[in-house]
Amino acid sequence: MIKGMKIFITGASGRLGGALNRRYAARHEMLTPSRSVLDLAKPDEVAEIVRDLDFDLLINCAGMISPDECEGDPLGAMRVNAESPAVLAAECQRRGARMIQISTDYVFDGEGDSLLSEAAPAAPAVPVNAYGRSKLAGEQAVLAACSQVLVARVSWLFGPDRPSFPDQMLARAIAGQEVAAIADKWSVPTSTDDIASWLEHLFIHRPAASGLLHVCNSGEATWHSYAETTLALALEIGLIQDLPPVKPQRMEEFTGFLARRPRYTTMSNAALADLLGETPQSWESALRQSLAGRVTR
Ligand SMILES: NC(=O)c1ccc[n+]([C@@H]2O[C@H](COP(=O)([O-])OP(=O)(O)OC[C@H]3O[C@@H](n4cnc5c(N)ncnc54)[C@H](OP(=O)(O)O)[C@@H]3O)[C@@H](O)[C@H]2O)c1
Repeated sequence: MIKGMKIFITGASGRLGGALNRRYAARHEMLTPSRSVLDLAKPDEVAEIVRDLDFDLLINCAGMISPDECEGDPLGAMRVNAESPAVLAAECQRRGARMIQISTDYVFDGEGDSLLSEAAPAAPAVPVNAYGRSKLAGEQAVLAACSQVLVARVSWLFGPDRPSFPDQMLARAIAGQEVAAIADKWSVPTSTDDIASWLEHLFIHRPAASGLLHVCNSGEATWHSYAETTLALALEIGLIQDLPPVKPQRMEEFTGFLARRPRYTTMSNAALADLLGETPQSWESALRQSLAGRVTR
């Protein structure tokens, strides 16, 4: 029997925050203020609003997450992704609450080619875009402000709460449009439902877990192999009737980005596996569950 906690989630209307809120609402008391109540773009106002709330765990899922939007507004990205998280962490420290700060594989520069552990330096190598720099600044700020903070780095999220890459690929396939994806960029697609379950295990059974932690499914993909696997699973499950080819693209020939993207950011989940007592399932099997869930929902 899990003892219920008072959990405050920012970004609960988003892809990850939505998954956490769905899973935790049955067992815990949830506090999920919307952006109109708590706007992280206004760090000066955050402390006063949060001081009145009653919680023992804060999970900060809110963020400015589009690399291109951050590139166009680097100061805004810093306010949302670093300055306000620092205020939230200081408030957690003041009242003795725990905090989980959601971060990203984009804190790495992407220049290596082997699995990235928590010990791999994100700095002094500099993230390649304003999004990564703001998220790295956010990590450093919350770790400095609060002794009970876990920084959970996640990558390439998919889940039912907000559309993501598999939805885009499926929509193109269903519309009979060409499907193309970048084949020279690597990371780990990760299920938001799995993250919800792992984090709950950690805050219930491993309350002392703190510092950096890579929180992702097992395996590795390029956007191209991610697209191919999505469509193959969709065919198997009956979401599409034909398997379209996926045209491989090279990152340097792709002109649709304002911000540069890091090339290789696959994270090792060995430390997470140690804490959970089991290896997280592969991203392929998590994706199969997610796509099959659409048929039954
Ligand atoms: N998506 C990925 O593939 C990915 C990969 C690596 C790391 N991450 C990290 O995972 C976390 C969650 O990402 P996600 O995919 O769930 O993002 P998302 O679906 O875009 O959701 C972001 C959430 O943050 C809220 N938000 C945005 N700006 C805000 C502001 N100024 N004040 C308060 N709330 C604000 C949004 O509210 P509205 O509904 O009002 O917009 C939404 O609830 C982020 O920290 C992100 O950096 C994501």
